[in-house]
Amino acid sequence: MDEADLPAEPDLDAMAQGARIMANEPHGVYRAMRDVMPAVEFVDTPAGRMGIICHRRDIEEAFRHPEVFASTEAVDLSNVRPLIPLNIDPPDHKKYRKLLDPLFAPRAVARLERPVADLANSLMDAFEGQDEIDFGPAFSVPLPSQVFLTLLGLPLDELPTFLAMKDGIIRPERVVGVHSGHPDARAHQQATARSIYEYFDRVLDERAQEPRDDLVTHFLAAEIDGDRLSREEILDISFLFLIAGLDTVTASLDCMFAFLARHPDHRRQIVADPSLIPAAVEELLRYETPVIGVPRKAVQDTLLGGCPVPRGAQVTLLLGSGNTDDVEFGDGDTVRFDRDPNRHMAFGGGVHRCLGSHLARLELRVALREWHKRHPDYHVAPGAELDFTTGIRSIDRFPLVLRSGDLSG
Ligand code: HEM
Repeated sequence: MDEADLPAEPDLDAMAQGARIMANEPHGVYRAMRDVMPAVEFVDTPAGRMGIICHRRDIEEAFRHPEVFASTEAVDLSNVRPLIPLNIDPPDHKKYRKLLDPLFAPRAVARLERPVADLANSLMDAFEGQDEIDFGPAFSVPLPSQVFLTLLGLPLDELPTFLAMKDGIIRPERVVGVHSGHPDARAHQQATARSIYEYFDRVLDERAQEPRDDLVTHFLAAEIDGDRLSREEILDISFLFLIAGLDTVTASLDCMFAFLARHPDHRRQIVADPSLIPAAVEELLRYETPVIGVPRKAVQDTLLGGCPVPRGAQVTLLLGSGNTDDVEFGDGDTVRFDRDPNRHMAFGGGVHRCLGSHLARLELRVALREWHKRHPDYHVAPGAELDFTTGIRSIDRFPLVLRSGDLSG
């Protein structure tokens, strides 16, 4: 958009278009931004004026200083209290992570390896023999969602309700068919938020009456430094989990399979040598960066990379750009499954670095491994254009043509 043509009122159409380009063809956008932008550049967005931070060193610097670039109040998803632990900054943040980290530690999630593999195979059984599938409903949506609902102890047959809750919070504008920033989107998000609190309130009543071997029951009994979690704290953790756990792995699977479907040479590498899969997962998390950026709010006047950032300013740390910055990676726009080291920021950084990263990695590795045993060869249906959602990059309609066995194509 031409700077001189900027209207006084935010041009929501142009902003929506910009966000779509960023989701669909991010690498050129990131590079262009890094070429011209200072450490912090303020732009108008549907959420108001926003400082964009796109250089790797500045993103790291902001992550290192949560006392300046705070997560508290950085994002408003119509939640009535701060989401825990995302919107709690140090020192209180630590006590929640102390409670939650062991539940999502590598050893704790390793026991899910077999069930995740079984689930991946049962999803593939359901489309056995079909030449073409819609990848989302067939695989990338049900896999992480079912893992997650099982962990939380929530009924699998209510999956459509949870998906509607998650979408109503993360992308309400798509659900109601308006631009983000539109009052109808906000109203839908608020109604969804109320329904989430009410839903988990009921679940807590049920678990208090009848404890089970699940996370919600665990929260009811858990203590931090001798104190039980309050009901509100458990609701605020559950709200965040629903949003953080259902969408991100789906989006990562969409991003990874879209890349592999379009890049047969890379796909053949992991089919020929499955031991490359863990490194491929890291490299595709880096290159594709499913969560494009994370929000922060400056809670004091400060300077970042020489740029003034006033107290109260909202900023976005553009993880996708930090993940392709040549300053860190040398050849950031090249996908190499032998990249080592690979200090990507797909899970964020600093104190709020993703709690679910070990679970997510396990799901992604197992999904890629089991899938490629059965479907080594596939491509995007001819003529189909993949349209990535903004913010968290999932694909609404992803028609995938499956070919069996033969690696030559
Ligand atoms: C590949 C999948 C995933 C990606 C790319 C991802 C990405 C991220 C990112 C970028 C952040 C940092 C947010 C910020 O700094 O503002 C984050 C935080 C978080 N993620 Fe994930 N995530 C994934 C999977 C999961 C899963 C499966 C869970 C389920 C437990 C989860 C739970 C969380 C939580 C609770 C936080 C907040 C941590 C804190 O504030 O201390 N994530 N995630």
